[in-house]
Amino acid sequence: MNLINIINFSSLDDQRGSLVALEENQEIPFKIKRIYYIFDSQKGISRGFHAHRDIKQVIICLSGSCNILLDNGFRRERVQLDNPKKGILVEKLIWREIHDFSSNCILLVLASDFFKEDDYIRDYTEFIKIVNENV
Ligand code: TYD
Repeated sequence: MNLINIINFSSLDDQRGSLVALEENQEIPFKIKRIYYIFDSQKGISRGFHAHRDIKQVIICLSGSCNILLDNGFRRERVQLDNPKKGILVEKLIWREIHDFSSNCILLVLASDFFKEDDYIRDYTEFIKIVNENV
């Protein structure tokens, strides 16, 4: 299984600039139930440090850059996100950390379900236990 699943978006580019359109079950491989965005990240902070039991997400860096670490409990991989024409698909049961936010970083996240705190696994030891139960 690929840990880093990059989705390359088509863009409409003309002399005015670029436009990317995303539709559920098309470019985004699930029904989109929630959108949120992260911006104004403070210098030196990292985010994430959780996995989801069921929710899938696509993370898109609209501006600036950051580094994403994905971990399936067996392997960890890192990728730099710095292109609004690319999304990272994060499947369920993948631990994610987001590091090295540039000051102008804007991250857009499309999620397959509404916010549910009980979908989060915030403890890494618990994550490893759940992953091993699901092998
Ligand atoms: P969280 O997902 O833990 O952020 P990160 O992983 O980037 O550190 O969310 C931070 C807080 O915001 C947490 O208290 C839950 C809340 N939150 C919502 O209320 N709704 C949402 O859709 C999201 C993503 C977070």
